[in-house]
Order: sequence, then structure tokens, then C-alpha cells
Amino acid sequence: MINNPFVLVGDIPAPYFCDREQEIARLIKGMQGGENICLVSARRMGKSKLVKHCSLLPELSDNYYFFYVDLLHTSSLRDFSFAFGRCVFNALQSKGEKFVRQFLSAVHSLTATMTIDPLSNMPQFGLSLNQDAQAEYTFESIFRYLESADKPCIVCFDEFQQIAKYPEKNVEALLRSHIQHMRNARFIFSGSERHLLEEMFNSSSRPFYNSTSYMELAPIPEEKYVDFVCYWFEQYDKHIDKELVQLIYSIAEGNTYVMQRICHELFDELAAGATADRQALTTIVNGIIESETPRYARILSHVPERQQSLLFAIAKEGKVQKIMSGPFLRKYHLMSSSAVQNAIKHLLELDLVTLENKQYTVADIFLRMYINRICEK
Ligand SMILES: Nc1ncnc2c1ncn2[C@@H]1O[C@H](COP(=O)(O)OP(=O)(O)OP(=O)(O)O)[C@@H](O)[C@H]1O
Ligand SMILES: [Mg+2]
Repeated sequence: MINNPFVLVGDIPAPYFCDREQEIARLIKGMQGGENICLVSARRMGKSKLVKHCSLLPELSDNYYFFYVDLLHTSSLRDFSFAFGRCVFNALQSKGEKFVRQFLSAVHSLTATMTIDPLSNMPQFGLSLNQDAQAEYTFESIFRYLESADKPCIVCFDEFQQIAKYPEKNVEALLRSHIQHMRNARFIFSGSERHLLEEMFNSSSRPFYNSTSYMELAPIPEEKYVDFVCYWFEQYDKHIDKELVQLIYSIAEGNTYVMQRICHELFDELAAGATADRQALTTIVNGIIESETPRYARILSHVPERQQSLLFAIAKEGKVQKIMSGPFLRKYHLMSSSAVQNAIKHLLELDLVTLENKQYTVADIFLRMYINRICEK
């Protein structure tokens, strides 16, 4: 048994992975049926962990090669092509030198590098993208390589909305033109910036229109999460009442990361044989907000005043639909509706605010609590 059954970082060992039975079945069925799937949810609901969890299940791991490409820190087509190449390269390293050599000879723009790690004095193998490499060509050769693999492939492009932010304008069309011809690979496109992904996949003028099934990851159902938490507390001879877990679920609004973080800390603080109570929960939530305070203060110091006033107003309301309506503007002494329109655009870009079901909210629940506390003072 691991020290804490509520895993916050790294891979989640299967027994500590909560529910998602329907979503797992849906993803596996989709992959087996040759679908491509776009997986969307609010931040930190569990998309990345879900995809990784599925990739390790025998239904997929026995029959497919799986490649997980994180696009979060990419900002150009060149970055993307390199991230993709590196991902395939790393996956092939565990299969042996022959596979790596075949791959590098198929993708000329990538070169293996060897450096000596100064700390351990051991050789380290890496990959570099040639200076003059054409991203289009790199993509083409990687896709061609996957097409010739001896098993079908699943490629997950996580944080796929990044491609809409690249300076190049033809990225979607370029990818679509490859992907539509692939016979040996299925794709999962996942991300949290719903407005960008929805536009990309659901508007008829865009290359990806109608090419992909859309899958929304909702919160884990409350009963499932409550049973999961009670079960693991009991396994370690610690105790928690259902009602307290329900309260955690409602504070977290069902956000997987937020509930797991609270449970992780509550579990840590609780002695064996003891029962968690409301006082302990309050202490934990206060402690989390306190530990995040320097980071939140830094974030807010970079937000101009007008945007801050709007952010604070949204935090106070919890969820708001009509941010440009007269009553809302007057209630929070906001400037004109055009100033609000401008401010909301920036807050969305900074990912401080999200738009869910036509309602604006402060995406990070602890940040929302922090703002409401400083406003009360
Ligand atoms: N099924 C699960 N069981 C237990 N914990 C989970 C599960 N899914 C997610 N988590 C927890 O929630 C956290 C966030 O999950 P994950 O990183 O997969 O979310 P995400 O939707 O990809 O977030 P982002 O939008 O930031 O990319 C994980 O670190 C883990 O603590
Ligand atoms: Mg993720």
C-alpha cells in the first residue's frame, strides 16, 4: 500500500484510480472501432489521467502502440513536430535499438544525440531537431512511420487547443490532411479550453469539422467518489463519514483535483484510528489557501486593475451569465460593457476565468476562495 491513497502527482496506480468506468468503456470502444475522439472538460477534471489509465489496460496495451504527446508548452508547428517525434522516439527506446534506428532513418529531420550527464558521468541519449527541418516534412515522415507499424497506434495530442495559438495559420488543415488518410492510427485530442476546441471541431468552416466524436468529461458521480474515499480511509484504519465527503464534494464542485487534494491532506493529518471532522476539514482548506497565497498574490499583481475588478466581481458571484448587463455592471461599479468585453477576453486567455455552459467562473476554486477572503477584509 502506498503512503497516501489520494494520489496528486505522477501516475495513479490502478487501485487508486477512482471510477470513470463508463468513460473508460467509451474510449476503448471508440479506439477499437477506429474513431477519433475529442475529449474536453474543465481544468483538472481528469482527462490526462483517464487517457493514461486507459492506455495501460490490457484491451489497449496488448493490441496497440500508444503515444501521448503533451502540447502544453509548444508554441509553434516546429515545437509540435519535435514534441511528436520525441514522444515516438522515447516510446521506441524501451523496445530496443533496432526500432530506434528504423525510426531515425524514416524521419531524417531528427537526430539522436548523446551527452554525458555531469553528475552521474553516465551517457544520456536524447534527440534533436535539425536546424533546417521543415515541420511539414517531419510530420509527414512520422505519420508514414506510424502507418507502417506492425500494430495499430493510438496517438493522444493533449492540450490540443495550443495549435490554435501557433503563429502558423495552416496547422489544422495540415494535420487533418494527414489524419484523414491514416489507416493504422486513431487519435485522441484532449484539452480544457472548450471555446477553442469547440470551434475547431464543431464549426463547419474548419478542417476538423465532423471528423471526430466529441466526449465531455463530467465530474465523477458523487456516490462513486464518496464510496472511494470512505473505502480507502477504512483500509488504512482511518475513518471519515459519508456526510463529510459529501461536503468536500460540494466545496470542490466535483472537481477531481480539488477533492483529491483536500482528501490527500486530510488523510495525511489524521492519526490511525481517528475520525476526520469538520474542524479538520476547515483547517485543511485554510492551509491550502495559505500555502497558495504567494502564488495567487503574484498572479494578481500582473492583472491590470480593470481586469481585476471584473475578476473579483465574478469570484463574488460564483457563476455569472450576463457580465455585460446593466445590473451586474452597476452592482460591482464596473466601467462600460465594452471595457468588460475587453477585460473578459484577457481573463479567459490567462485561464483565470472559464466559460462553462454560458456561465463565467473563476476557474481555480481555491483562487476564488482567496479572492473572496481578501475582498471581505
Ligand atoms: N480517476 C481519478 N482517480 C483519482 N484521482 C484522479 C482521477 N482523475 C484525476 N485525478 C486527480 O486529479 C488530478 C488532475 O487530473 P488530470 O491532470 O488528469 O486533469 P486534466 O483534466 O488533464 O487537467 P488539465 O486541464 O490541467 O490538463 C490528478 O493529479 C489526480 O490527482
Ligand atoms: Mg491534462
